[in-house]
Amino acid sequence: MKTAVLYGPRDLRLEEHPLDTTRLEAHQVHVDTCITAFKIGTDRGNFEGAEPVPGAPDYPRWVGDSNLGIVRAVGSAVTRFRAGDRVVSRRPHQSEYLARDDELLVHVPDEVTDEDAVFAHLYTLSAHCYRKAFFTPGENVAVVGLGVLGIGAVALGPLFGARVVGIGNSPVRQEMARRMGAHACLASNDPELTSRLHVFTDGVGIDLVILTANPWPAWRTAMDIVRENGRVAVVALPGRGEAPLDFNPVAMEWFYNKGIALIAVSRSGGYLFPTPEPRFDGQRACRHTLSLMADGLLEPKRAITHRLPYQRMGEAYEMALRRDKNMLNVVFSWRE
Ligand SMILES: NC(=O)c1ccc[n+]([C@@H]2O[C@H](COP(=O)([O-])OP(=O)(O)OC[C@H]3O[C@@H](n4cnc5c(N)ncnc54)[C@H](OP(=O)(O)O)[C@@H]3O)[C@@H](O)[C@H]2O)c1
Repeated sequence: MKTAVLYGPRDLRLEEHPLDTTRLEAHQVHVDTCITAFKIGTDRGNFEGAEPVPGAPDYPRWVGDSNLGIVRAVGSAVTRFRAGDRVVSRRPHQSEYLARDDELLVHVPDEVTDEDAVFAHLYTLSAHCYRKAFFTPGENVAVVGLGVLGIGAVALGPLFGARVVGIGNSPVRQEMARRMGAHACLASNDPELTSRLHVFTDGVGIDLVILTANPWPAWRTAMDIVRENGRVAVVALPGRGEAPLDFNPVAMEWFYNKGIALIAVSRSGGYLFPTPEPRFDGQRACRHTLSLMADGLLEPKRAITHRLPYQRMGEAYEMALRRDKNMLNVVFSWRE
């Protein structure tokens, strides 16, 4: 089995590891990877040597967590999968793996292409930004940061009934956001940002900011543009890899005076109408994302800028390090 291992900053190696697939345990599933997707934000931080994310493994560590593959064989007690099924999982960049049948493995509907489905888990996180913040159809949403998760949030906005404005730090990304469905796109350093948002929202203001960028200036933009009593859903890892602040991100003028709610988009969210099983657990939420793809409404592949064989994975990490704005959704092929 081939796998990518990060030994330290800028030390990404491809290795061969043994994997015995001849004797599966009763609940095991053997999956052959077709493609994996680059999780730019978090993985770039790991590649750069930014401070570790609490709870995440130290070096040497796996990289990536968006994997699309084909089930090759199943153990004797597996009923949910059979050989030939296409599945998405949160497994790292690796050519094959053994999973338990009760982990986060989700069937891919026939209508969905590999290059859309491989982004299903990442776009489910983009969707979680809306759910966790109790988004209501018709609200004005500003997505600050137009990377993988931000573009996902932009693409989902119109499907969920949002009026969505993408706020980025590069014209290339603003154009991409426009193509993925944003109703408007603006630059975060636009001196007229406030007045333009006033016009965009017909004076109502931004009800929900989805913050997907780590740098503190992005946090400042989020706090500044959200309306009074609005909320900021933070999926970014604020300040990770950044120099210390020269301002207070929860200054009274914003947090207290505006009475806003800050929401961490991590862990599960609440739901007003409980069901016996969690209504939007990882399986159900991912299946919903895949259903939007099956309906032809959500196409992450339209944001693919690079397709690379796994042997050239290191090039993508170096491009991320340079903040190359021409690189957005990247897939690595594991087919020889
Ligand atoms: N909560 C979770 O469970 C979870 C899971 C996965 C990822 N994450 C985090 O979510 C964040 C987004 O991930 P991603 O993969 O989408 O990252 P990404 O591709 O790097 O996207 C972030 C984008 O925001 C841009 N940006 C930086 N400063 C900005 C500013 N002031 N105004 C507007 N845009 C700005 C970045 O540009 P530059 O490249 O120029 O900085 C980049 O294009 C990362 O922090 C990641 O670690 C959280």
